Formats: sequence, structure tokens, C-alpha cells
Amino acid sequence: MRDWWRSAVFYQIYPRSFADGNGDGIGDLPGITARLDHLNDGSAASLQIDALWLSPFFPSPQVDFGYDISDFTAVDPVYGSLADFDRLLDAAHRRGVRVILDLVLNHSSTQHPWFLEAQSDRRSARRSWYVWADPAPDGGPPNNWLSSFPAVGSAWTLDKPSGQYFLTTFTPAQADLNWHNPELRKAMHEVMRFWLARGVDGFRLDVPHRLAKNAALRDNPPSLAAARRFMHHAVDRQRHIDLPEVHETLRGIRSVLDEFEDRVLLGEVTITDPSRLVRYFGDQDDELHMVFDVLFWNSEWSAAAFRAAISAIDPLLPPWSLPCRALSTHDHVRATSRLRLLEGDGRRARLAAMMQMTLRSVPCIYYGEEIGMTDVPVPPERAKDVDRRDANRTPMQWGSGTLGAFDPSTAWLPMPQDRDRISVLRQAADPCSLLAFYRQLLAYRRRSNPLQHGSFAWLSSPPELLAYSRAAEGTAIAVLLNFARHPSRVVLPPEAPSATVELSTDPGRAMGSAVASGALLAAEEGLILRLPCAAH
Ligand code: NOJ
Ligand code: CA
Repeated sequence: MRDWWRSAVFYQIYPRSFADGNGDGIGDLPGITARLDHLNDGSAASLQIDALWLSPFFPSPQVDFGYDISDFTAVDPVYGSLADFDRLLDAAHRRGVRVILDLVLNHSSTQHPWFLEAQSDRRSARRSWYVWADPAPDGGPPNNWLSSFPAVGSAWTLDKPSGQYFLTTFTPAQADLNWHNPELRKAMHEVMRFWLARGVDGFRLDVPHRLAKNAALRDNPPSLAAARRFMHHAVDRQRHIDLPEVHETLRGIRSVLDEFEDRVLLGEVTITDPSRLVRYFGDQDDELHMVFDVLFWNSEWSAAAFRAAISAIDPLLPPWSLPCRALSTHDHVRATSRLRLLEGDGRRARLAAMMQMTLRSVPCIYYGEEIGMTDVPVPPERAKDVDRRDANRTPMQWGSGTLGAFDPSTAWLPMPQDRDRISVLRQAADPCSLLAFYRQLLAYRRRSNPLQHGSFAWLSSPPELLAYSRAAEGTAIAVLLNFARHPSRVVLPPEAPSATVELSTDPGRAMGSAVASGALLAAEEGLILRLPCAAH
């Protein structure tokens, strides 16, 4: 099916933490296969996810937990084998679930044979597959570029034997690849073909906006030099980020993808200027199909903030594109913790989910979000990550002793005390749980033409409400999300003074009942209403 991704719901699996098939405390591919029923068993008793994004499971020294890859076309033994991957892909496809992989284009591990060869000899043919430069006159790094990880410092690492520095914009164990080199390009295109020919449905591209660097390696201007993390306007304008040449590189990547049918590219482009972000969709559907909406995943918890984030992107989207909207990823504090979604009776988590699943975008659920997993405090002696992201990567809480469940005594990261309360096992049996609500919401979305491919329009509403309509094929719905901790009022378009409740975040609200404009909307309640025909 062409453009299947436009109506899909994605789910991000961090393989190390999803399901442990062999009990060694680290998640693995057989564990994921064993747990596919949770994601999609073909019925509304599961989440009915359409596509998985698997974070890296390739051979890696795990300095950046898989984003430092030493072989792009194999499976790290800790996660299983290539045969395990084929079984997982086949099992997912048999359920109608597509699978996209993380394609880390910007760098390889310094343990990758390409880098070892490049490093071994200045005259090596692979030397210029990476970015090398002589020291500054004082012997220090060639320029003032910084790693994106504050703990690392300079973006340059000295190679003592050759006396040259090589570029490492993440950790010193991740050497930046030189996409200006045609042989490197060819080799990375072959990596793509390797997985596409195996049947994967596309890729999530890691930091594609970083693939071109200022060829003269000029310093960043002092006013921009110190900015690190994404979400800084200053970072957008640095000389190793978002250069115009990157678009030609992405067109090359897209044309390799298009050698295969129905595949998709989702980009992690963490630049904040919406007008620059949307350029990654290409001038004519020739770059990425989707990019993550970075303004959305960083928004504060208020209707005004989300309205501003959504309005910044949506009007700029070319017709062939859509943003992908995630509340959390493996790089962020989980939304449950950041936005305090579990306060009170968890209604805020249901509201956030209803928003995510009803906007005109492709939702991506981060594993564990559906049960309300929070960040888990990690004591310093158990910390693993260079950028302090352990807390949001802790093992999936399946419920003690169940299939693929992690044993807290061996799990690679700590698990919280309340792991059995906030667990799939417990919530699957409770019709009022967050998991039950996710299943209901996703089942509703699956049957709703307006949500799967309908138009989107804001409804005028008081400031505490996010209110919009979606319409397709003679059906229209209104979505009303009350962000306030106090009741508000239902607003409906003037031509539809009354509507029917399709779904509410409030278990007390009767489905199918009629609601009129001006009726009470409970504190932090979200409502999906079916509008009468006259309204569209
Ligand atoms: C973005 C990934 O999401 C992050 O986890 C990783 O550390 C960097 N890119 C480097 O690959
Ligand atoms: Ca394991």
C-alpha cells in the first residue's frame, strides 16, 4: 500500500530495554519477537501498532549504546543474530506490522574496520571517509566546534600516531563520516540496500542535518560556538549543521530508498526553525517523508504552548509530507516525568495520548509510554550514558515473571519499586488502566477516516482548550482537550450546536451521549465528538 505511513501509528523500541529473551538483563531481538502480541495481535486487546522503529542493534562497543556502530550490516551478539532479525521481521510482517531501522549516517564507531583502516595510514584510501585536520598552531583542536554532549568538550579527537585530529561531534568513539567522499556515499547506500533487500520498511535517520560540514572547517562565530543541545537557535546556524549541501545528500539517500517499493524515511532533524525544518521534505517529495516535530516534543504542558508548536509547522508542510509527533524518545526525559502526566488520577496522561493520536501527524509511542512508565532515578554508580539519558531508558515493565520480563537483579539499568504496579501485566487486567485507554484510543483511531487521513482545522476556543476538527469522506469530528485543572466548556462550531460523544478521557462520561455547546468539560478532560453532517 503506497503511503501506508501516513495513517500509521509508530512505536519506538529501544532493543536493549524492551524484552529480555534469554535472561541476561539486556533486551534482545528474540525478546521483541516474543512480545509482538502486546503491540499487535490483530485485535483491540492489543495496541494494534502499524510500525516499529527499532533503535540500533548492530555490533557496537556501546559507548553511545548502539549509536556507535562497528558493523552496519550485522547484529550485535548481545541482541541475537541476523537470523533472529529475519524471524522478527517476518513475524512482524505476518501481523501487518512494518519495521523501520535506525540508520546512523553521520558517524561510525572508531572500532569500525573503515575507521581502523583510515587511521592506520594517512595515505589510506579510506582516510578521507572521515574528517581529518591538522592541529591549530597551538597544537590544540583545529577549530572551536563542540561535541553535542556537554560532558565531552571539543568535537575533535587527537590521533597521536598521525598527529592529526579527527572529527567526533558526539563521543570520541564516534568518528564523523565524510559524506563529501563519493566512495563513502556508495558504501552507505549499500548499507541501505542490504537492509531494504532483507525487507525492512524504511529508516529513521539519525541526525541527517549534520551530514554536511563546512568544507573549510571554519570556526563557529563566538556567539554560536557554545550552544550545544538541539533546541537552541544558535545550534541551527553552526557551521557543521544544516548546510545547504545536505539536501543533495538526502536526495541521493531517497533515490536509493525508492529503488524499493513502499519504504519510508523518518528524519531526526533537531533544528528549531520551522522554515528550515520543512526543507527536509525536499522540493518535490525527493527527501524525507517525515521529520520529528521537535517543537512538539519539547512543548510545555499548556494548550497555548502546544497550539503554538503545532501552528508553527503545520501551515508550512508540503502536501506530500507529515510531521511525526512523539511525546518521548530515548533522548528525552519521559513525558510522564517532564510534564507530570501521572499527577492526580493519570487523566493528564490520557489527555496527552488523545492529543497525540488525533492531530494531523504520525504518532510515535515510546516503549512503556502506554503504561505510564516514568523516568527512573539511576544512582551515579549505575549510570551508563555519557549524556545522562539512563533514566528514560530503563527496562520495560512487563510484570514480574512474565514473558520477556527483566529480572531486576540482573537488569542492565535499575527498575523502580512500583514496577509491578506500573506494568503491562497489571494494566492488561484493569479496564480503567492507562493501557486499556491506549488500546481503546488506538482502536478508535484505526476505524476513524477523519483521524487517519482527514483535514485539520482549529476551532475557536477559550485559551485553556486545544480544540480542532478533523473531517474526511462525509464524517467530521471535533477534538476538545481541556488543559486546565478546572472545568471548562464545550465549544462546537456554530453550525453544530450539539454532537455525540465518541470517546472521552473521563471514564465517567457516557459514550454515545449528546453534548451541547456550553456543556461542562471536566478538568483535564479530552473529548472526541462526532459532528452532525451539517457541520462539514
Ligand atoms: C541521536 C540519537 O537519537 C542519540 O541517541 C545519539 O546519541 C546521537 N544521535 C548520536 O548518534
Ligand atoms: Ca537478553
